[in-house]
Amino acid sequence: MHLHKYEKIWLFSGVGALILFLVVLGYGAFYMGTHPQSHGVTIDPENIEAHDAFKPENLGLTKVEEGKYILNIAASAFNYDLGTDEEGKAVKHIRIPKGSTVLFQVTTKDVVHGFNLAGTNINMMVEPGYVSSMEEVMDKPGEYTVVCNEYCGTGHHQMFATVEVYE
Ligand code: CUA
Repeated sequence: MHLHKYEKIWLFSGVGALILFLVVLGYGAFYMGTHPQSHGVTIDPENIEAHDAFKPENLGLTKVEEGKYILNIAASAFNYDLGTDEEGKAVKHIRIPKGSTVLFQVTTKDVVHGFNLAGTNINMMVEPGYVSSMEEVMDKPGEYTVVCNEYCGTGHHQMFATVEVYE
């Protein structure tokens, strides 16, 4: 096929502009990483126990010092694993004294889940391979429901836990 000289120039500058656009877009989207900072810690989703925070005995609420807690949660389809109580029963309700600083650390063993403490600004996307964390001062008493706000399958709406902040 014979192309006129000007057609060639237009064709090349068009392709060039497209490549430049894609390079700029790719650079902007991926240069600093595609994940928000809270996802900086990586983890093997098939072996979350390798990470100290997600060893079975470390799941749930741990008091670090007076007024300071860590809450470790292992999400999976379709459950929030908060460890077990003395009787070996799955913990579904967490009680935190008002005014406490709580470091929430959440990961997933399978698909993407959400971790939203309804009525607060604690809202994280939980992606396989990452630990989502957020520290928050719990100064409003009440009972908060943990909601999975990422559709994760048929049991999505069954994912449930509650956090109570008491005076
Ligand atoms: Cu987990 Cu939706």
